[in-house]
Amino acid sequence: MTGIGLLGVGHVGSALARLIARRPELELRVTRALVRDLHQPREVTVPITTDPADVLSADLLVEVMGGTTLAGELMLRALAAGKRVVTANKAALAERWDEFAPYLAQGRLYCEAAVMAGTPVIGPLTGALRGSQPLELHATLNGTCAYILGQLEAGVSYAEALAEAQRLGYAEADPTLDVTGLDAAHKLTILARLAFDPAISWESVKAATRGITHLSPKVVQSALAEGKRVRLVGSIWPEHGAWRAAVRPLALPLAHPLANATSARNGLLFVGDAVGEVFIAGAGAGANPTASAVLADIIAAATGQPGPAPLRQAAPVPNEPPTKPTFEVL
Ligand code: NAP
Ligand code: HSE
Repeated sequence: MTGIGLLGVGHVGSALARLIARRPELELRVTRALVRDLHQPREVTVPITTDPADVLSADLLVEVMGGTTLAGELMLRALAAGKRVVTANKAALAERWDEFAPYLAQGRLYCEAAVMAGTPVIGPLTGALRGSQPLELHATLNGTCAYILGQLEAGVSYAEALAEAQRLGYAEADPTLDVTGLDAAHKLTILARLAFDPAISWESVKAATRGITHLSPKVVQSALAEGKRVRLVGSIWPEHGAWRAAVRPLALPLAHPLANATSARNGLLFVGDAVGEVFIAGAGAGANPTASAVLADIIAAATGQPGPAPLRQAAPVPNEPPTKPTFEVL
């Protein structure tokens, strides 16, 4: 039996506790879970505490609490103590990468759920796709924005669409991270470092990020009338001898693979020199899809399989311009 110390019993933590309870053959048990409020009614029965020390003594630490400070400190304490850590926390990874990188290199940090929730992208980018030199990547990386943009197309107001995305459990505890593009930028930073250049800085991606707060039903409906869908797209491409990464709303032709993801689904288009175009799509947010990826990482950690390997050096930057046409930025 592997004892799990769980940080957080919110949307994802509750879904994870339910998945674990349904899978006795995995021999997993939540020994203690850290929460803020011991008296809040909960849908799942797990032993809760407000003392981090109770959770850190478990065999394996699973962080689904969020935030860059306390969650980051607790993960780093467990890693420094030689434990394996599973996390869905893209903010902590993107903003504190240098602190986590040594543990990624040791294979003791697992983070599939941090990008595109239950849809596997970190595994392929750090595994099967490493046989090709990357040329570019374009992805819709935020389920809340995908959901809101779909609702704006249907004429729903921005405020109503955001409130519904929060109710459905897609949005961050602080939803400004979603709608300003920063959550997508966190995820793009992680992908950029794992597949293109380990030295890409969070600050450079953040500075090249624009969200969807300025968009309205009128703007996205006008684009649709012209045969285009507005999507928040994170891209990595070569420019002037360096890898560039940016997040911004683009008007994509309806036939573009990233234009077709509806609801909170996300998509990722990777272009490699030998493999060509690879497209991966699926749920990009939501409690169950995220818990599915967290559980897969727990299984890997509990059975001693290593987490995703970091990139040792930057991929060569191609001289030729990207093959993709440039789309209108909204
Ligand atoms: P959530 O519903 O807000 O749950 C957060 C949980 O962490 C709650 O149980 C909360 O305790 C606990 N917590 C927060 N701050 C704490 C503190 N300072 N001390 C002790 N406990 C604290 O969040 P979520 O949607 O489950 O997301 C959790 C993580 O998964 C985040 O990193 C998020 O970015 C990531 N993620 C979420 C999704 C998604 O679709 N929701 C997808 C991928 C990744 P209380 O219950 O007592 O308030
Ligand atoms: N708030 C995030 C999103 C959760 O909407 O994509 C998944 O990381």
